[in-house]
Amino acid sequence: MFSVTSLLAFVILASRTSGNPVVVIDRSPILSLPLSRINNFTSGHDILAHDLARARHFKDLAKARATGQPLKRQSEPVINTVVQYIASVGVGASNSQYQLVVDTGSSNTWVGAGQVFTPSSTSTNTGEEVGNVYGSGVFVGFEWIDRVSLTSNLVIEQQSIGVAEEFLGFAGVDGILGIGPVLLTEGTIEDGSTIPTVTDNLFSQGTIAENVVSVYFQPPTSEEDSNGELFFGGTDSSKFTGEITFVPKVTNWWGISESVTYGSTSIVNNAQGIVDTGTTLILLNTNSFNAYIEATGAVFDSTTGLYRITLAQFENLQNLDFNIGGTTFSLTPDAQIFPLLFNADIGGSPGGIYLMVGDLGDEEGFDLINGFAFLERFYTVLDTTNSRVGFATTAFTNSTIN
Ligand SMILES: *[C@@H]1O[C@H](CO)[C@@H](O)[C@H](O)[C@H]1NC(C)=O
Ligand SMILES: *[C@@H]1O[C@H](CO)[C@@H](O)[C@H](O)[C@H]1NC(C)=O
Repeated sequence: MFSVTSLLAFVILASRTSGNPVVVIDRSPILSLPLSRINNFTSGHDILAHDLARARHFKDLAKARATGQPLKRQSEPVINTVVQYIASVGVGASNSQYQLVVDTGSSNTWVGAGQVFTPSSTSTNTGEEVGNVYGSGVFVGFEWIDRVSLTSNLVIEQQSIGVAEEFLGFAGVDGILGIGPVLLTEGTIEDGSTIPTVTDNLFSQGTIAENVVSVYFQPPTSEEDSNGELFFGGTDSSKFTGEITFVPKVTNWWGISESVTYGSTSIVNNAQGIVDTGTTLILLNTNSFNAYIEATGAVFDSTTGLYRITLAQFENLQNLDFNIGGTTFSLTPDAQIFPLLFNADIGGSPGGIYLMVGDLGDEEGFDLINGFAFLERFYTVLDTTNSRVGFATTAFTNSTIN
């Protein structure tokens, strides 16, 4: 029988370079999948702990892959995910709907955490064990082949999906829609092969013209919002403004090279960042974080676990500028602070102003994570075909909603 500890014995194999077929099929897809946001935080401490557990897991995984050593994380506590973007995805002949967390930082798609998976005429059990760890949770189960319907236009006939037998850390959701790079599936099944993602299969099956998925969120305006969109096969021009700036993908995740300044203060140069829908905050390595905190004058707030500024400091807050591929993407003061609407949920005071920036630590690996706080202000294009990541401004980039 499965156990979570047996999963942890999975060996993460050294990464391989994969082929890069570029076949563009001339079709014009209008292929978007709506996203809703769900909050489940009870304190800012949870948010930071969740984000840091995830970041630590990314670093451990990167190290395990680089050295070919097994991934060791037996002692990590499981922390429930605190902010999630959810897509309703159909599986099987009857198109049963599962509420899946959209994750750019992992690439297995799996169901069965909440709603039990019921096989149908389109379902085949491969008999192969599958499992993955997430920093904030874990699942183990079997890999099945089934029909996956993202929307009526986005149907994958033979998608390999996990069906969880055991899981931890996925309360309130049914599994994950993994839209990270396919290499992140390596080591999740025992034979060491990779499992094509939903985006890979939509592309190889000719449903979409490019192996691209674009991510659009808006700053939250209520506890539950349904204002995000995943767009498969290209970009949705109604969701961004101006030009898209592309930069080469680095790392096994959706990683980029970027520099950050706060007003006229340099925060970090030529840093390696990861674009991640599973992280709430902007995480900066310790030196960069300290430079930002010093420049803003923020102080640690032990009640929420986040850093706090006064109204006077907020009024003087400068833009936090991300220089990516020669374009500056500015997080305005409003974009740098925790949505006031949710202050009560994190144990904050009604007028308290808390920063959406956290300390990543200074272990080796990448230098920062561009989490929701960034993604809710900038349209993001994850382009496997050209191994690059793109960003553009949106109607909400400068929005004073917070
Ligand atoms: C919300 O988080 C708490 C723990 O922080 C957890 O016990 C609960 O199951 C979660 N609920 C949902 C719906 O995610
Ligand atoms: C945001 O505001 C700045 C400063 O006013 C302006 O230069 C920029 O064009 C605006 N960006 C967007 C996307 O509206």
